[in-house]
Amino acid sequence: MKYAANSTVWITGASSGIGKALAEAYIKKDWQVILSARDENKLTEISNIYNHARDNITLAPLDLSKHDTIPEVVKTVLAKVGKVDVLINNAGVSQRCDAISTPLEIDKYIMNVNYFGAVALTKALLPAMLARKRGHIAVISSVQGKIGTRNRSAYAASKHALHGFFDSLRAETAGEGIFITLACPGWIKTDISLNALVADGSKYDIRDNRQEKGLNPETCAKRIIRAIESGKEEVIIGGWETYAVWLKRFAPRLLSRLLRRFEAK
Ligand SMILES: NC(=O)c1ccc[n+]([C@@H]2O[C@H](COP(=O)([O-])OP(=O)(O)OC[C@H]3O[C@@H](n4cnc5c(N)ncnc54)[C@H](OP(=O)(O)O)[C@@H]3O)[C@@H](O)[C@H]2O)c1
Repeated sequence: MKYAANSTVWITGASSGIGKALAEAYIKKDWQVILSARDENKLTEISNIYNHARDNITLAPLDLSKHDTIPEVVKTVLAKVGKVDVLINNAGVSQRCDAISTPLEIDKYIMNVNYFGAVALTKALLPAMLARKRGHIAVISSVQGKIGTRNRSAYAASKHALHGFFDSLRAETAGEGIFITLACPGWIKTDISLNALVADGSKYDIRDNRQEKGLNPETCAKRIIRAIESGKEEVIIGGWETYAVWLKRFAPRLLSRLLRRFEAK
C-alpha cells in the first residue's frame, strides 16, 4: 500500500524495545504517530527527545488488560488525529515458568494483554478504518506464535491465538481495503525477559542470553515496516532460531524432539 507523507500510525508498547524502535522510525519518516503503553512518563520521554516533531506525536496511555477502557481511548485519539492508517498491535508480556506452576490467573493475564488486548483495540478502531475503506493492521506475534517451547505455555498460546484471529479477520476484510500483517520475531535484544512474568506474578528480572545476542530492535522495526509497506501477510524476523518455523512444517517430529531438551534462555 502506498502511504502519503502525513500518514498516521498507532503503536502499542511504544515505551520500550521493538515498539519504541518502531515509534522512532515513524517519527523520523515524519508520520503522525500515536504512542501507547501504560507508562506515560516513558512515552513523554520519547516525545521530548523528538521535540521538533512534537506536533506529530500523540500520547495515548492505555492498559491493554483493561478492555472496557479501550473504546474511550480510541474515541479520544480519533477526535484528535482524525484517522489511523496503520495500527501496530505490538505490546506484549512474556512468561518464564512451566505450565504446571503457572496459576490460571497468570495464563489469563497474558492472554488478556497479548491476545484480547490486541483484539479489543482492533475491534474499537476497525469501524473507522472500514468507513474509509483503508487501513493496515500489523500484529507483532513471535516465532512462539508458530511453535511452543518450555516455560512459554501461556505466551505461546497467546501468540498462536493472534494468528487464528487475524487470519480470519484478513479473510473477512480483504475486499474492504484492510491489510493485515503478522510479524513473527525470534530473539530481539529488548527488556522482554526482564518484564516476563513468573509463577507468583512478579517480573523475572533477568536478561536472557538469547535475547542479549539477538537482533537489535531497530533492525527488527525496519523489517516490520518493510513488510507493512510491501503488503506482506506474514514475516519471520530473526537469526537461526527462525529455522524452527520451517522445521515445524517440514520435520515436526524432529523439532518436537529438539524442543524437549531446549531451554529458550
Ligand atoms: N524481544 C523479543 O525477543 C521478542 C520476540 C518475539 C516477539 N516479541 C514481541 O514483541 C512485542 C514487543 O516486545 P519487546 O521485546 O519490545 O518487549 P518490552 O521491551 O518488554 O516492551 C513491551 C511493551 O509492551 C508494553 N506493555 C506491556 N504490558 C502492557 C499492558 N498491559 N498494556 C499496554 N502496554 C503494555 C510495555 O509498556 P508498559 O510497561 O509501559 O505498559 C512495553 O512498551 C511483544 O508483543 C513481544 O511478545 C518480542
